[in-house]
Formats: sequence, C-alpha cells, structure tokens
Amino acid sequence: MGKNIVLIGFMGTGKSSVGQRLAEKLKMKFIDMDREIEKITGLPINQIFRKHGEIRFRSEEKLLAQKLGHESNLVIATGGGVVLSQENIEALRENGILICLEASPEEILKRVKRKKASRPLLKKEFGEKEIKAMLEARDAFYACTDFRINTNNKEPRAIVEEITRCLR
Ligand code: S3P
Repeated sequence: MGKNIVLIGFMGTGKSSVGQRLAEKLKMKFIDMDREIEKITGLPINQIFRKHGEIRFRSEEKLLAQKLGHESNLVIATGGGVVLSQENIEALRENGILICLEASPEEILKRVKRKKASRPLLKKEFGEKEIKAMLEARDAFYACTDFRINTNNKEPRAIVEEITRCLR
C-alpha cells in the first residue's frame, strides 16, 4: 500500500499548486481537501463559513481527513487549518508522509492578496502583522510534520524537486 504524501502549511504556501505538479510527476492521484469539501457540501468554502460557520467546515474537514487516512497513493493538499486538530494529524499520518510547506509573512501576503475573497479567515484589513501573529500561533501545530520545506522565492517546479529529494 503506497503511502500518501500530505502537504500541510499555512494559507498561501503553495500546497495546491505544488501538490498538483507533484502528483503529475509521481503519477499519483491528487486530492485538494478544500475542493473535495466544496464538492461534498455543494458550497464554496467562504459560503460554508458564512452560512454554517467554521465549526461545520472543521467537521467536514475532520470527516474527510479520517476517510483519506484509509486510502493510499494520493498526493493530498490540506487546508491551512487541518493541523489544528490532533485527530486530523493522526488520521493523515496513518498512511501518510507529512510535508510542511513554509513561507515568510511577506511572501504569504503577496500570494494570498489576489484570492483573499475565497479565504474566509483573511479579513479585508488583514496585513503582514496579522499573518505573522497567526503563523506564530500555529507554528507548534505545523511542527508535527516529517519534513519542512521553505518555499520563499521558489517556483512550484523547484519545490516539487525538493520534495522528491526528501522522499528518496
Ligand atoms: C484555512 C485555510 C484554507 C481553508 C479554510 C481555512 C485555515 O485553505 O481550508 O479557509 O484555517 O488556514 P488554504 O490553506 O488552502 O487557503
């Protein structure tokens, strides 16, 4: 049973774009957890938060993490908050190698600026200072992974190379 490769990390660290390319390279199936949750609920992420609240989103996220923990040969891009639940981490670790993608607050801000509307936790007035505080609050949670990769100023293709080197 081939292990899943699970990409973890803050919003804007490149989990989805890197994950897609990594799956192509390794000829594995790619799963983006946020997109799966959108399919399951029939609602975009920001609508799930607006209509049903974060608790509902986290419960969908938990159910999906449990399900994916029993599957194999997947590249999984998680949502940035998946690490906040120890149960999620344990489920994803069940048959997965956990890789954390990291980036500086400046870089994250640059990357998320364009797609702020689809990220309900990033309010309009969100800036570098707020991202830094949120990153610090979550740092201990991201420390649970097997590898940590800095993605600052790197193209997805270079990050994919780095991940494949880690996996060898
Ligand atoms: C979240 C990150 C988002 C999405 C949701 C909550 C978080 O995913 O799951 O808005 O708590 O950090 P991305 O990391 O793909 O933006």
